[in-house]
Amino acid sequence: MEYARLGRTGLEVSRICLGCMTYGDPPRGNHRWTLDEATARPFFTRALDLGINFFDTANVYSDGSSEEYLGRAIKDLIPREEVVIATKVHGRMRPGPNGGGLSRAAIMMEIDHSLRRLGTDHVDLYQIHRWDYATPIEEVMEALHDVVKAGKARYIGASSMHAWQFAKAQQVAERNGWTRFVSMQNHLSLLYREEEREMIPLCQDQGVGLIPWSPLARGKLTRPWDASSARSETDELGKRIYATMPEADAAVVARVGAVAEARGIPRAQVALAWVLNKPGVVAPIIGASKESHLDDAVAALKVKLTEDEVKTLEEAYRPHPVLGFR
Ligand SMILES: NC(=O)c1ccc[n+]([C@@H]2O[C@H](COP(=O)([O-])OP(=O)(O)OC[C@H]3O[C@@H](n4cnc5c(N)ncnc54)[C@H](OP(=O)(O)O)[C@@H]3O)[C@@H](O)[C@H]2O)c1
Repeated sequence: MEYARLGRTGLEVSRICLGCMTYGDPPRGNHRWTLDEATARPFFTRALDLGINFFDTANVYSDGSSEEYLGRAIKDLIPREEVVIATKVHGRMRPGPNGGGLSRAAIMMEIDHSLRRLGTDHVDLYQIHRWDYATPIEEVMEALHDVVKAGKARYIGASSMHAWQFAKAQQVAERNGWTRFVSMQNHLSLLYREEEREMIPLCQDQGVGLIPWSPLARGKLTRPWDASSARSETDELGKRIYATMPEADAAVVARVGAVAEARGIPRAQVALAWVLNKPGVVAPIIGASKESHLDDAVAALKVKLTEDEVKTLEEAYRPHPVLGFR
């Protein structure tokens, strides 16, 4: 395993982060395709064996059960200080007032619920899952600062939003002497590269670590364009976000197939190597629905794509509508 500092912090994380959205109670929450606790447990064991120390989840994943599975696995398998736990806040957890968003009320309540489900007294990285258009950013940043000062989170991060919003949030924190975001969890893969315009250069300039989500486009980059899987058939968000440019996307997927075939390695390794080698990327957050996916992710660290291969992979890309910010 390779380890890297998360942005300008001293925190060492594995260059593969295991996304825990795949693990959760299927009847709870929005994702019918998740793996239940007994099926999920070996993935945590294997990830730790491979040297993965970085795990990403969210309060909203499978209605909190993803956090519960991760917390119980860590308690059973490894000392708490040997892993880096990242979770998120913003998604709606309850109907009615204050059941979601980033008000001071929501943040203070949700961090405590996440800690209880994770069975820990702190998370390493507390991330805002989206921008909250209804709460002043000053209120959000002060509440996050207070969470850090209370010892409930070591660092804070943000996820998909417009670059101007992220810059504004950092400036508000700076001006008030509050904690700044150290990481950006954004959407980046060979099928969605709109972040290369503004967010990635901003993060590189500011020393913010990139930990992109869905680096394999939720599986689209790992198989022929028309192929499906148990997940892809019920992954409603996946169906929506990779439906805007089907012809261009199919061409990119075909090129991933060609590069993989020429090298004699799985497509997943090629697609992940492309993300891993993007400047500023600390650790892609991968999804694994089979244990072999973890091995491929780690193997991708050793794949160094040539300039010609990168050109082949990139040149079929066409600009996509910006999405996923709300
Ligand atoms: N911040 C956000 O808004 C946000 C949004 C989405 C995700 N996330 C985070 O990012 C994490 C990863 O998301 P993701 O699951 O969409 O990531 P992904 O890595 O793009 O997709 C994972 C899927 O790719 C396929 N796959 C992975 N490795 C493979 C291999 N070696 N060979 C063949 N197929 C392979 C599997 O698809 P099949 O199961 O179909 O076979 C797997 O479920 C989540 O768990 C979550 O932590 C965050």
